[in-house]
Amino acid sequence: FGVGLVGCGVVGGGVVRNLGRNRALIASRAGAELEIRRVAVRDLAKAREGLEVPVTGDWREVVDDPSVDFVVELMGGTTVAEEVARATIAAGKPLITANKALLAERGDGLFAAAEERGVPIYFEASVAGGIPIVKALREGLCANHIRRMHGIVNGTCNYILSRMADEGTGFEETLAEAKALGYAEADESLDVDGIDAAHKTAILASLAYGFHVPFSSVFVEGIRRVEAIDVCMANRLGYRIKLLATVRADENGAVEARVHPTLIPLKHVLASVGGVFNAVAVEGDVVGSTLFYGRGAGPDPTASAVLSDLVEAVGDRLHGGCRGFARHDLYGKLLPMEEVVTRYYLRLTVLNCPGTLAAVAAIFGAHGIGISSVFQPEDHDGETVPLVLLMDYAREKAIRTALVEVDQLKAVRESARVIRVEDFS
Ligand code: NAP
Ligand code: HSE
Repeated sequence: FGVGLVGCGVVGGGVVRNLGRNRALIASRAGAELEIRRVAVRDLAKAREGLEVPVTGDWREVVDDPSVDFVVELMGGTTVAEEVARATIAAGKPLITANKALLAERGDGLFAAAEERGVPIYFEASVAGGIPIVKALREGLCANHIRRMHGIVNGTCNYILSRMADEGTGFEETLAEAKALGYAEADESLDVDGIDAAHKTAILASLAYGFHVPFSSVFVEGIRRVEAIDVCMANRLGYRIKLLATVRADENGAVEARVHPTLIPLKHVLASVGGVFNAVAVEGDVVGSTLFYGRGAGPDPTASAVLSDLVEAVGDRLHGGCRGFARHDLYGKLLPMEEVVTRYYLRLTVLNCPGTLAAVAAIFGAHGIGISSVFQPEDHDGETVPLVLLMDYAREKAIRTALVEVDQLKAVRESARVIRVEDFS
């Protein structure tokens, strides 16, 4: 079968290299040879190692090439990529994509068009790099109601947070390393502002709950505001800060989907997921707890996922099958962030004077929010000190309201730093 690549950068290069490396194995598993027949890139002058097929600057030549049976979109973005996807579907060719932004933001329309045309879309590489989490949710766990999922799904952020915690390295320097290693998106703000993780969360939530969870409904906060002091305080309190995706359904079937820096107890397995590694913990009503772990970014892990989709596409072509997005009508409501109930880490910057803690505690008490522990480091010698509170479970709306009042106290010198806490109970 002929494969056309639209985009041959970090991931495309990995696909070319690894298809060459494991050609015989892949052919025997797929039941047919896979051959890259045509490739589209933006810059024709760039050297492309291992590429021995015609390279064009016009992606339409790839989609229209009669020798191309499967189109693999690895260019990123949502504008031209959507045109590529729609043209591929219109041509009746299976689409393979690693583009989570495209699926999270335009997936509803694309899957509908694909279904109408009877064309499959494969997207294993779009979530968690080399971890086969899409296939796990779609196939291995399909007999389960998914109770909840927690995932570290952005390799770049996990790399940055791990290096900050383990080696005390600075944010900018570590981001530059992640870019050099091919982990980061072309637009790095997609990673550090949590957008990439939110794209993946929308896809995971849609797969788990069988309805299109719009990207715009995923609550997102990135890691730019995580400071060294919070990493240090978290550690003293027995936690690690991770950019965590949380997806779960409540007892009424309302689905929450959110991504934000989160304190995770050091003893929980997700706390030890370091560097570029990703992990997704999925709890189903039949299977119980499961954990998926592996490299979440980089050319080779992502190529592993793309190549697995190509093998699946060959199987479907040979034996009949059309993978899409399996909807069902068991769920359909989304829980607004204000209604989410979770725990919180709050770091206040307060004047070091008597009565401050009592005043802060009184406000939370008046809103019915319990404080589970308080910490103020003794080794602070300035006029202001950090006052760290770990809160009991509270509704987001209540915490936000109480914090408006706390901010108005004379002794409070800066708005509270709020990081949510997940204790997995
Ligand atoms: P990349 O290194 O920037 O590669 C993008 C490729 O697309 C380049 O070859 C580029 O051409 C080509 N391209 C851009 N605009 C084009 C156009 N208009 N026509 C034809 N080709 C065009 O990006 P990447 O890291 O490989 O990521 C590709 C996709 O995989 C993205 O959707 C990303 O989110 C996803 N992904 C990436 C990773 C990862 O670890 N990097 C992991 C999972 C998923 P030039 O080479 O000439 O610039
Ligand atoms: N930029 C993404 C990450 C690539 O760091 O996880 C993998 O999707």
